[in-house]
Amino acid sequence: IEQKRRPSVIWLHFQECTGCTESMLRAEHPTIEKLILDIISLDYHETLFAAAGHQVEAARKQAMADDKGKYILVIEGAIPTRDDGIYCKVGGQTAIELTKECAADAAAVIAIGSCASWGGMPSTGPNPTGATGVAEVLGKPVVTIPGCPPNPYNFLATVVHFLSFGALPEVDHLGRPKFAYSRLIHENCERRAHFDAGRFAMEFGDEGHRKGYCLYKLGCKGPETYANCPTVLFGDAGAGTWPVGCGHPCIGCTEQGVGFEKPIHMLA
Ligand code: SF4
Ligand code: SF4
Ligand code: F3S
Repeated sequence: IEQKRRPSVIWLHFQECTGCTESMLRAEHPTIEKLILDIISLDYHETLFAAAGHQVEAARKQAMADDKGKYILVIEGAIPTRDDGIYCKVGGQTAIELTKECAADAAAVIAIGSCASWGGMPSTGPNPTGATGVAEVLGKPVVTIPGCPPNPYNFLATVVHFLSFGALPEVDHLGRPKFAYSRLIHENCERRAHFDAGRFAMEFGDEGHRKGYCLYKLGCKGPETYANCPTVLFGDAGAGTWPVGCGHPCIGCTEQGVGFEKPIHMLA
């Protein structure tokens, strides 16, 4: 019986911690098995491949030739640009070269995680490698799924949208799909009633913290961060949770220049 070929996905890893992949591995709908066995053909992924070395590089080139103009390119990790990009090489090619080569014939390019979106953690000052995002290197906008790690459902929904409609979803000025990044965390937070009533945790482990009060005074960046974490949650849809749900302030990981900095309301 002839089966329709599943769309090819090539997933590159550069300067990263693999947390984006780890996040996706924990998705429950669909599961990773369902995704790569029934929905897409994952033709290159360094973390998930059993093969290595020349074999995987050959698989990537084969997939790119077989699905020229049709494959989806996913990039995880920042791209170092200093000193001609020598700080990240795979199979003898720099991340810059691989990005340009693989993007040239891709039907869609998705930057997953804050590292690939704009540089993320590796670009934190003093940024010794000149780490930056995919759009910067390609000189054109790409779809970004920021977060550190990003929510796997935002990535999966973007891929499924592309497969269903032949086009990527509508994005905002930072390349983020609007279906996932158009509302502030603060708008949908389960602790919002405490914020409105002025009930705050003042220290980790204090009475307010134990009672689930608002984390604003512990540095929560929910009021300046656009993402759907409180509504979509991470992990299992039934038992999933999210940073604020676990008692930790949002660090603004989906926002360039917000994550890893002091929140606006706590600046002197
Ligand atoms: Fe890791 Fe965060 Fe970068 Fe993803 S965005 S690779 S989770 S540091
Ligand atoms: Fe807003 Fe953060 Fe407080 Fe939630 S915990 S209500 S996001 S400030
Ligand atoms: Fe990141 Fe804040 Fe969501 S830290 S995961 S944007 S709750």
